[in-house]
Amino acid sequence: MTPKEHELMMNFLELLMNYLKSNALKDNALLDYQDYESLEKKFDASIGKKGVAEDELLSSVQTYMQYCVRTSHPQFIGTLRGGYNVASLVGEFLADITNTSMSTYEGSPVATLIENKLIKKMTELVGFDDGDGIFVSGGTQANLIAVLSARNTLDPNIKKMGLRQQHDLVLFISDQAHYSYVSAANVLGLGVQNIIRVKSDELGRMDTEALEFAIQTAIREDKTPLFIGATAGTTVLGAFDPIEDIASIASKYNLWLHIDGAFGGSALLSNLYKPLLAGSELADSFSWDAHKMMGVPVPCSVILTRNSGVLFDTCTTTDAKETPSYVYHNVGTESYDLGEKSLQGTRKADVLKLWFSWKYYGDEGYENQLNHVVELAQYAEQKIKMAPCLEMVFPRQFVNLCFSYKPKVGGDADQLNIRVQQQLMQNGQGYINYTQVKGRTVLMLNVVNPLVDEEDIDYLLNRVIEIGQEQDEIAIF
Ligand SMILES: Cc1ncc(COP(=O)(O)O)c(C=O)c1O
Repeated sequence: MTPKEHELMMNFLELLMNYLKSNALKDNALLDYQDYESLEKKFDASIGKKGVAEDELLSSVQTYMQYCVRTSHPQFIGTLRGGYNVASLVGEFLADITNTSMSTYEGSPVATLIENKLIKKMTELVGFDDGDGIFVSGGTQANLIAVLSARNTLDPNIKKMGLRQQHDLVLFISDQAHYSYVSAANVLGLGVQNIIRVKSDELGRMDTEALEFAIQTAIREDKTPLFIGATAGTTVLGAFDPIEDIASIASKYNLWLHIDGAFGGSALLSNLYKPLLAGSELADSFSWDAHKMMGVPVPCSVILTRNSGVLFDTCTTTDAKETPSYVYHNVGTESYDLGEKSLQGTRKADVLKLWFSWKYYGDEGYENQLNHVVELAQYAEQKIKMAPCLEMVFPRQFVNLCFSYKPKVGGDADQLNIRVQQQLMQNGQGYINYTQVKGRTVLMLNVVNPLVDEEDIDYLLNRVIEIGQEQDEIAIF
C-alpha cells in the first residue's frame, strides 16, 4: 500500500465511523430523498478517461452516504431487514479484505471450517439430525435450490437428460407465499403455470383441505405433484403455515416438503417462538435468511436439507470426467470443497458476518433480540388499536403489522395511505411500506431491528397520524 493509499483508507475509515455513529441518531433524517433527475445532478456517476484524486473519491463517498437510505436508522421499519451490529461488520469487512472464495478448502480453509460448523448448528435448530446446507445468495436462491433438489430427487436423470421424460411437475404454495417460486419454476423449466397457489385462511395460513384437494386435482389431470412450499413467516402478514398438517399430506402423496423460513426461520432462536415452527424437522429442506432478523448485512442466507448428500447430488457441477481440475483437485474422493454442492462458482464468505455476530451475542443474545422485537411489535399493535384514526387491518401474528390510516370522511382510503407512506419517506421521517393484501391496501411495519425502542414506535405512528391528517384535509378541500 502506498502512503497515499494508506491515507485514503484512514480517511475512509473515519468517514465510515462517523456515518455509523450518525446513522443511529434519532434526530438525523433517515433519507435525503431526491428524484432520479435531481440525484443525477448531485452525484457524479460518470467514469472519465482519467482517474480522480483521492480527495474526489472521498467526496463521492460522502455524497453517496448523504443520499443513501439509512437502513440502520431507528425509523427504518418497513422492510424485513434493518439495523446493524458491529460484530457482523467485523465479519463482513474481514471477508472483504481477505477476499477468499468458498469453492475449495485450499482456497478458504478457515471459512470452510466455520461454514460447516454454522450449517450444523442451523440444521440442528431446524431439527435435522443428519442435515446439510450451504450459504447462498439470498432466500430466492435458497427456494430455487429447494425446488431443484425436489426435481432431481424425483428423477435423477433430469440432470443429465433434461426434462424430456417428465411433464407438468407441479408445485403447491399458498396464495401468500413469496414470489421467488415464480423464478424457480421459470429457471428450472417447470413452467410458471405449474405453480398452484393454494388459498389461505383469514390470517394468511395455507388451508390444508384446499391443499389436498389441489393435489388430487393435479393427479386427476395426469400431472405429477412434486413439491409443497410451506412458509414460516409470510412476507406481508407474518403467517406461519401449519407445518405438521402439511407434512402429513406431503408424506401421504410422497411430495417434497420445503419450508420457506427466509423470514420466520429466526423464530427458532427463541424458546418462546419456536413452537410457531413445530414440525420443521419433518421437512426435506429449509430456507433461512440471517439478513432479515439477525442484524447482519445482506446477503446472508442458507438452504438446509434434512438428508446430507442431497445438495451434492443435485447441485454439483463437478463430475469426475468433466470437472475443471484447475479448481477441484479431489473430485470423486472425500473432500471439504464446499463448491461441489453449490450453484455458485466464486462465492464470498458470507458466513463470516453471521459467525462473528453469533459468536459475540451467543444463543442467549439472539434469543433476547428476537423476544425484544416481538414485544415491540406487540407494543406497536396496542398503540395502533388505541389510536382512533388508525386501524389494525389484520391481526398481528409475528413482527409484521398491517394497518391503515382511516380517513375522516369516506375518501379514498387506499390512495390516502399510499400518500402517507410516500410523504413519510420523502420527508426523511420514516421508512415503512405499503401493499395490497386480501383485497385491502395496508401500511406495513416490520419490527425486526433490535435497536428500535418504544419511543421510536411512538414517533413513527405519530408521524403517520400527522401526515394522514394533513393528507385527509388536502383530499377534502
Ligand atoms: C418468505 C420469503 N421468502 C423468500 C424471500 C426472498 O428472500 P431474498 O430477498 O433474500 O432473496 C423473502 C424476502 O422477503 C421472503 O419474505
